[in-house]
Amino acid sequence: MTHMLRRPRRNRKNSHIRDMVAETHLDVNDLIFPLFLKEGTGIKEEIGFMPGIYRFSIDQLVEEVEQCLKLGLGTFALFPCINDDLKDTTASEALNPEGLYPRAIQILKSKFPEAILLTDVAMDPYSTDGHDGLVVDGEIRNDESLEILAKMSLVQAQAGSDIIGPSDMMDGRVRAIREALDGQGFEKVSIMSYTAKYASVFYGPFRDALDSAPKHGDKKTYQMDPRNGREAIIEAELDIAEGADILMVKPALAYLDVIYQISSEFEYPVAAYNVSGEYAMIKAAHQKGWLDGPQAMMESLISIKRAGADLILSYFAREYAELLKG
Ligand code: PBG
Repeated sequence: MTHMLRRPRRNRKNSHIRDMVAETHLDVNDLIFPLFLKEGTGIKEEIGFMPGIYRFSIDQLVEEVEQCLKLGLGTFALFPCINDDLKDTTASEALNPEGLYPRAIQILKSKFPEAILLTDVAMDPYSTDGHDGLVVDGEIRNDESLEILAKMSLVQAQAGSDIIGPSDMMDGRVRAIREALDGQGFEKVSIMSYTAKYASVFYGPFRDALDSAPKHGDKKTYQMDPRNGREAIIEAELDIAEGADILMVKPALAYLDVIYQISSEFEYPVAAYNVSGEYAMIKAAHQKGWLDGPQAMMESLISIKRAGADLILSYFAREYAELLKG
Protein backbone atom coordinates (compact mmCIF):
# COMPACT_ATOMS: atom_id res chain seq x y z
CA MET A 1 0.00 0.00 0.00
CA THR A 2 1.32 3.41 -0.87
CA HIS A 3 1.69 5.89 1.94
CA MET A 4 -0.75 8.72 1.38
CA LEU A 5 0.21 12.15 2.66
CA ARG A 6 -3.06 13.73 1.66
CA ARG A 7 -6.31 12.24 2.81
CA PRO A 8 -9.27 14.57 2.22
CA ARG A 9 -11.45 12.26 4.28
CA ARG A 10 -9.75 13.50 7.48
CA ASN A 11 -11.77 16.70 7.15
CA ARG A 12 -14.98 14.70 6.95
CA LYS A 13 -14.46 12.31 9.81
CA ASN A 14 -17.26 13.61 12.02
CA SER A 15 -19.97 16.21 11.96
CA HIS A 16 -18.04 18.64 14.16
CA ILE A 17 -15.07 18.72 11.77
CA ARG A 18 -17.39 18.93 8.80
CA ASP A 19 -19.08 21.96 10.38
CA MET A 20 -15.69 23.52 11.13
CA VAL A 21 -14.45 23.31 7.56
CA ALA A 22 -17.76 24.02 5.83
CA GLU A 23 -17.25 26.74 3.21
CA THR A 24 -20.86 27.73 2.75
CA HIS A 25 -23.40 28.91 5.29
CA LEU A 26 -26.99 29.89 4.86
CA ASP A 27 -28.36 32.45 7.26
CA VAL A 28 -32.05 33.35 7.57
CA ASN A 29 -30.96 36.88 6.64
CA ASP A 30 -29.91 35.60 3.23
CA LEU A 31 -33.47 34.58 2.43
CA ILE A 32 -36.31 36.56 0.91
CA PHE A 33 -39.80 35.10 1.23
CA PRO A 34 -42.20 35.65 -1.71
CA LEU A 35 -45.81 36.20 -0.62
CA PHE A 36 -48.98 36.30 -2.73
CA LEU A 37 -51.84 38.60 -1.90
CA LYS A 38 -55.40 39.01 -3.06
CA GLU A 39 -58.44 41.18 -2.38
CA GLY A 40 -60.81 40.27 0.45
CA THR A 41 -60.67 39.50 4.16
CA GLY A 42 -59.97 36.34 6.09
CA ILE A 43 -58.51 34.62 3.03
CA LYS A 44 -55.63 32.16 3.24
CA GLU A 45 -55.95 29.78 0.31
CA GLU A 46 -53.33 27.24 -0.58
CA ILE A 47 -51.94 27.38 -4.12
CA GLY A 48 -52.59 24.14 -5.98
CA PHE A 49 -49.12 23.38 -7.29
CA MET A 50 -47.28 24.89 -4.32
CA PRO A 51 -48.19 23.05 -1.11
CA GLY A 52 -47.57 25.23 1.95
CA ILE A 53 -47.76 28.48 -0.06
CA TYR A 54 -50.88 30.64 0.10
CA ARG A 55 -52.71 33.61 -1.34
CA PHE A 56 -53.45 35.95 1.55
CA SER A 57 -55.90 38.79 1.96
CA ILE A 58 -54.19 41.80 3.54
CA ASP A 59 -55.36 41.01 7.09
CA GLN A 60 -53.98 37.46 6.84
CA LEU A 61 -50.81 38.72 5.18
CA VAL A 62 -50.19 40.89 8.23
CA GLU A 63 -50.36 37.80 10.44
CA GLU A 64 -48.07 35.84 8.17
CA VAL A 65 -45.46 38.61 8.13
CA GLU A 66 -45.66 38.94 11.91
CA GLN A 67 -44.95 35.21 12.33
CA CYS A 68 -42.11 35.30 9.81
CA LEU A 69 -40.48 38.24 11.60
CA LYS A 70 -40.54 36.21 14.81
CA LEU A 71 -38.72 33.45 12.95
CA GLY A 72 -36.03 35.94 11.92
CA LEU A 73 -37.16 36.36 8.31
CA GLY A 74 -37.10 40.05 7.53
CA THR A 75 -37.45 40.50 3.76
CA PHE A 76 -40.54 39.80 1.70
CA ALA A 77 -41.21 39.84 -2.04
CA LEU A 78 -44.86 40.69 -2.63
CA PHE A 79 -46.91 39.60 -5.64
CA PRO A 80 -50.50 40.69 -6.17
CA CYS A 81 -53.28 38.53 -7.58
CA ILE A 82 -55.49 41.04 -9.39
CA ASN A 83 -59.20 40.43 -9.99
CA ASP A 84 -60.01 39.84 -13.66
CA ASP A 85 -62.41 42.79 -13.89
CA LEU A 86 -59.54 45.17 -13.02
CA LYS A 87 -57.24 43.92 -15.77
CA ASP A 88 -56.87 45.81 -19.04
CA THR A 89 -54.40 46.17 -21.92
CA THR A 90 -52.41 48.98 -20.27
CA ALA A 91 -52.28 47.50 -16.73
CA SER A 92 -53.91 50.69 -15.46
CA GLU A 93 -54.70 49.13 -12.07
CA ALA A 94 -50.94 49.03 -11.42
CA LEU A 95 -51.03 52.84 -11.28
CA ASN A 96 -53.97 53.08 -8.88
CA PRO A 97 -52.55 54.38 -5.58
CA GLU A 98 -55.59 52.91 -3.79
CA GLY A 99 -55.14 49.50 -5.42
CA LEU A 100 -54.60 46.24 -3.57
CA TYR A 101 -50.82 46.33 -3.91
CA PRO A 102 -50.05 49.85 -2.62
CA ARG A 103 -52.60 49.34 0.18
CA ALA A 104 -50.83 46.14 1.27
CA ILE A 105 -47.42 47.84 1.14
CA GLN A 106 -48.68 50.77 3.24
CA ILE A 107 -50.29 48.58 5.86
CA LEU A 108 -47.30 46.26 6.18
CA LYS A 109 -44.85 49.16 6.45
CA SER A 110 -46.97 50.93 9.06
CA LYS A 111 -47.27 47.78 11.18
CA PHE A 112 -43.72 46.49 10.66
CA PRO A 113 -41.41 49.36 9.74
CA GLU A 114 -38.40 47.05 10.21
CA ALA A 115 -39.58 44.59 7.54
CA ILE A 116 -37.97 45.05 4.12
CA LEU A 117 -40.44 44.95 1.23
CA LEU A 118 -39.34 44.05 -2.28
CA THR A 119 -42.05 44.96 -4.75
CA ASP A 120 -42.55 43.65 -8.26
CA VAL A 121 -42.59 45.80 -11.37
CA ALA A 122 -44.01 44.15 -14.50
CA MET A 123 -47.37 44.44 -16.21
CA ASP A 124 -48.41 40.77 -16.27
CA PRO A 125 -50.51 40.54 -13.07
CA TYR A 126 -52.59 43.54 -14.25
CA SER A 127 -52.72 42.97 -17.97
CA THR A 128 -55.39 41.17 -19.99
CA ASP A 129 -52.55 39.99 -22.26
CA GLY A 130 -50.55 38.47 -19.42
CA HIS A 131 -47.35 39.98 -20.79
CA ASP A 132 -44.79 41.96 -18.81
CA GLY A 133 -44.75 44.85 -21.27
CA LEU A 134 -47.33 46.67 -23.39
CA VAL A 135 -48.73 44.64 -26.30
CA VAL A 136 -49.57 46.51 -29.50
CA ASP A 137 -50.59 44.52 -32.59
CA GLY A 138 -49.33 41.33 -31.00
CA GLU A 139 -45.90 42.82 -30.32
CA ILE A 140 -44.37 43.64 -26.95
CA ARG A 141 -43.38 47.30 -27.24
CA ASN A 142 -40.25 48.16 -25.32
CA ASP A 143 -40.05 51.92 -25.00
CA GLU A 144 -43.77 52.48 -24.46
CA SER A 145 -43.61 49.93 -21.63
CA LEU A 146 -40.87 51.86 -19.86
CA GLU A 147 -43.17 54.76 -19.08
CA ILE A 148 -45.74 52.48 -17.48
CA LEU A 149 -43.10 50.56 -15.52
CA ALA A 150 -41.56 53.78 -14.22
CA LYS A 151 -44.97 55.01 -13.07
CA MET A 152 -45.66 51.66 -11.40
CA SER A 153 -42.42 52.02 -9.48
CA LEU A 154 -43.42 55.45 -8.25
CA VAL A 155 -46.77 54.18 -6.96
CA GLN A 156 -44.94 51.44 -5.06
CA ALA A 157 -42.26 53.79 -3.71
CA GLN A 158 -44.94 56.22 -2.55
CA ALA A 159 -46.66 53.37 -0.73
CA GLY A 160 -43.42 52.56 1.12
CA SER A 161 -41.55 49.96 -0.93
CA ASP A 162 -37.92 49.55 0.14
CA ILE A 163 -36.69 47.79 -2.99
CA ILE A 164 -38.18 47.91 -6.47
CA GLY A 165 -37.81 44.62 -8.36
CA PRO A 166 -38.28 45.05 -12.11
CA SER A 167 -39.06 41.53 -13.40
CA ASP A 168 -40.19 42.60 -16.88
CA MET A 169 -36.91 42.33 -18.89
CA MET A 170 -37.58 45.38 -21.09
CA ASP A 171 -34.37 47.06 -22.25
CA GLY A 172 -33.56 50.24 -20.35
CA ARG A 173 -36.05 49.75 -17.55
CA VAL A 174 -33.59 50.07 -14.68
CA ARG A 175 -32.58 53.52 -15.88
CA ALA A 176 -36.16 54.60 -16.51
CA ILE A 177 -37.11 53.50 -13.00
CA ARG A 178 -34.01 55.00 -11.35
CA GLU A 179 -34.64 58.36 -13.03
CA ALA A 180 -38.32 58.36 -12.13
CA LEU A 181 -37.55 57.52 -8.49
CA ASP A 182 -34.79 60.11 -8.18
CA GLY A 183 -36.98 62.74 -9.86
CA GLN A 184 -39.54 62.34 -7.08
CA GLY A 185 -37.10 62.27 -4.16
CA PHE A 186 -36.98 58.49 -3.79
CA GLU A 187 -33.22 58.17 -4.16
CA LYS A 188 -33.13 55.93 -1.09
CA VAL A 189 -35.37 53.31 -2.68
CA SER A 190 -33.20 50.48 -4.03
CA ILE A 191 -33.49 48.50 -7.25
CA MET A 192 -33.01 44.75 -7.31
CA SER A 193 -33.02 44.07 -10.99
CA TYR A 194 -34.07 40.77 -12.50
CA THR A 195 -30.85 40.90 -14.50
CA ALA A 196 -30.67 37.47 -16.07
CA LYS A 197 -34.25 36.30 -16.16
CA TYR A 198 -34.67 33.34 -18.45
CA ALA A 199 -37.74 32.28 -20.45
CA SER A 200 -38.37 29.30 -18.20
CA VAL A 201 -40.93 26.54 -17.84
CA PHE A 202 -40.19 26.63 -14.11
CA TYR A 203 -42.46 29.69 -13.68
CA GLY A 204 -45.55 27.56 -14.33
CA PRO A 205 -46.90 27.25 -10.77
CA PHE A 206 -46.38 31.01 -10.18
CA ARG A 207 -48.41 31.94 -13.27
CA ASP A 208 -51.12 29.63 -12.06
CA ALA A 209 -51.03 31.26 -8.61
CA LEU A 210 -51.53 34.74 -10.07
CA ASP A 211 -53.52 33.69 -13.13
CA SER A 212 -50.93 35.70 -15.06
CA ALA A 213 -49.92 33.35 -17.88
CA PRO A 214 -49.60 35.04 -21.31
CA LYS A 215 -52.89 34.79 -23.22
CA HIS A 216 -51.01 34.47 -26.51
CA GLY A 217 -47.44 33.72 -27.46
CA ASP A 218 -44.62 33.32 -24.97
CA LYS A 219 -42.09 35.60 -23.27
CA LYS A 220 -39.11 34.67 -25.44
CA THR A 221 -38.75 38.08 -27.10
CA TYR A 222 -37.87 39.64 -23.76
CA GLN A 223 -36.81 36.94 -21.29
CA MET A 224 -33.41 35.36 -21.95
CA ASP A 225 -32.79 32.23 -23.97
CA PRO A 226 -31.78 29.31 -21.69
CA ARG A 227 -29.02 28.46 -24.16
CA ASN A 228 -27.13 31.66 -23.38
CA GLY A 229 -24.73 32.21 -20.50
CA ARG A 230 -22.39 34.96 -21.70
CA GLU A 231 -25.33 37.17 -22.64
CA ALA A 232 -26.08 37.42 -18.91
CA ILE A 233 -22.88 39.45 -18.58
CA ILE A 234 -24.25 42.05 -21.00
CA GLU A 235 -27.47 42.28 -19.00
CA ALA A 236 -25.45 42.70 -15.79
CA GLU A 237 -23.26 45.43 -17.29
CA LEU A 238 -26.34 47.31 -18.47
CA ASP A 239 -28.15 47.02 -15.15
CA ILE A 240 -25.12 48.28 -13.24
CA ALA A 241 -24.66 51.18 -15.67
CA GLU A 242 -28.36 52.02 -15.30
CA GLY A 243 -28.23 52.13 -11.50
CA ALA A 244 -29.19 48.69 -10.17
CA ASP A 245 -28.13 47.95 -6.58
CA ILE A 246 -28.57 44.18 -6.58
CA LEU A 247 -28.42 41.81 -9.58
CA MET A 248 -30.70 38.80 -9.76
CA VAL A 249 -30.48 35.53 -11.65
CA LYS A 250 -33.68 33.59 -12.22
CA PRO A 251 -34.39 30.66 -12.06
CA ALA A 252 -31.65 29.41 -9.74
CA LEU A 253 -31.02 25.67 -9.91
CA ALA A 254 -30.70 25.20 -13.65
CA TYR A 255 -28.66 28.44 -13.85
CA LEU A 256 -25.97 27.98 -11.17
CA ASP A 257 -23.29 28.68 -13.80
CA VAL A 258 -24.87 32.07 -14.46
CA ILE A 259 -24.97 32.86 -10.73
CA TYR A 260 -21.31 31.88 -10.53
CA GLN A 261 -20.31 34.01 -13.51
CA ILE A 262 -22.12 37.14 -12.41
CA SER A 263 -20.93 36.90 -8.81
CA SER A 264 -17.32 36.34 -9.95
CA GLU A 265 -17.34 39.12 -12.51
CA PHE A 266 -19.07 41.98 -10.66
CA GLU A 267 -18.66 43.62 -7.27
CA TYR A 268 -22.41 43.75 -6.71
CA PRO A 269 -24.62 41.68 -4.45
CA VAL A 270 -26.20 38.82 -6.37
CA ALA A 271 -29.63 37.41 -5.65
CA ALA A 272 -31.01 34.18 -7.07
CA TYR A 273 -34.69 33.32 -7.43
CA ASN A 274 -35.40 29.72 -6.47
CA VAL A 275 -38.64 29.79 -8.47
CA SER A 276 -42.05 28.19 -8.13
CA GLY A 277 -41.32 25.17 -10.35
CA GLU A 278 -38.17 24.39 -8.38
CA TYR A 279 -40.23 24.43 -5.20
CA ALA A 280 -43.03 22.38 -6.75
CA MET A 281 -40.68 19.64 -7.97
CA ILE A 282 -39.29 19.01 -4.49
CA LYS A 283 -42.70 19.18 -2.85
CA ALA A 284 -44.20 16.76 -5.39
CA ALA A 285 -41.34 14.28 -5.04
CA HIS A 286 -41.64 14.50 -1.26
CA GLN A 287 -45.39 13.88 -1.38
CA LYS A 288 -44.81 10.81 -3.54
CA GLY A 289 -42.19 9.54 -1.13
CA TRP A 290 -39.52 9.75 -3.84
CA LEU A 291 -37.26 12.29 -2.13
CA ASP A 292 -36.75 13.61 1.37
CA GLY A 293 -38.21 17.12 0.92
CA PRO A 294 -36.43 18.96 3.77
CA GLN A 295 -33.05 17.52 2.81
CA ALA A 296 -33.61 18.34 -0.85
CA MET A 297 -34.50 21.88 0.23
CA MET A 298 -31.29 22.23 2.26
CA GLU A 299 -29.08 20.89 -0.48
CA SER A 300 -30.68 23.11 -3.15
CA LEU A 301 -30.44 26.27 -1.07
CA ILE A 302 -26.85 25.66 -0.06
CA SER A 303 -25.92 24.92 -3.69
CA ILE A 304 -27.36 28.24 -4.78
CA LYS A 305 -25.26 30.01 -2.12
CA ARG A 306 -22.16 28.01 -3.01
CA ALA A 307 -22.56 29.10 -6.64
CA GLY A 308 -22.21 32.69 -5.46
CA ALA A 309 -25.64 34.04 -4.52
CA ASP A 310 -25.63 36.41 -1.55
CA LEU A 311 -29.41 36.36 -1.34
CA ILE A 312 -32.00 33.77 -2.25
CA LEU A 313 -35.66 34.37 -2.96
CA SER A 314 -37.33 31.12 -2.06
CA TYR A 315 -40.73 29.70 -1.21
CA PHE A 316 -38.78 27.53 1.23
CA ALA A 317 -37.73 30.57 3.29
CA ARG A 318 -40.27 30.07 6.05
CA GLU A 319 -39.78 26.31 6.20
CA TYR A 320 -36.02 26.82 6.44
CA ALA A 321 -36.39 29.39 9.21
CA GLU A 322 -38.69 27.02 11.11
CA LEU A 323 -36.24 24.17 10.71
CA LEU A 324 -33.42 26.31 12.12
CA LYS A 325 -35.54 27.23 15.14
CA GLY A 326 -36.08 23.50 15.68
C1 PBG B 1 -43.60 38.03 -13.82
C2 PBG B 1 -42.91 37.17 -12.84
C3 PBG B 1 -42.82 35.78 -12.96
C4 PBG B 1 -42.17 35.32 -11.81
C5 PBG B 1 -41.88 36.43 -11.03
N1 PBG B 1 -42.34 37.59 -11.69
C6 PBG B 1 -43.34 34.88 -14.01
C7 PBG B 1 -43.09 35.18 -15.41
O1 PBG B 1 -42.14 35.85 -15.80
O2 PBG B 1 -43.91 34.73 -16.21
C8 PBG B 1 -41.90 33.89 -11.53
C9 PBG B 1 -41.62 33.50 -10.13
C10 PBG B 1 -41.73 32.06 -9.86
O3 PBG B 1 -41.94 31.21 -10.74
O4 PBG B 1 -41.61 31.72 -8.67
N2 PBG B 1 -43.18 39.30 -14.01
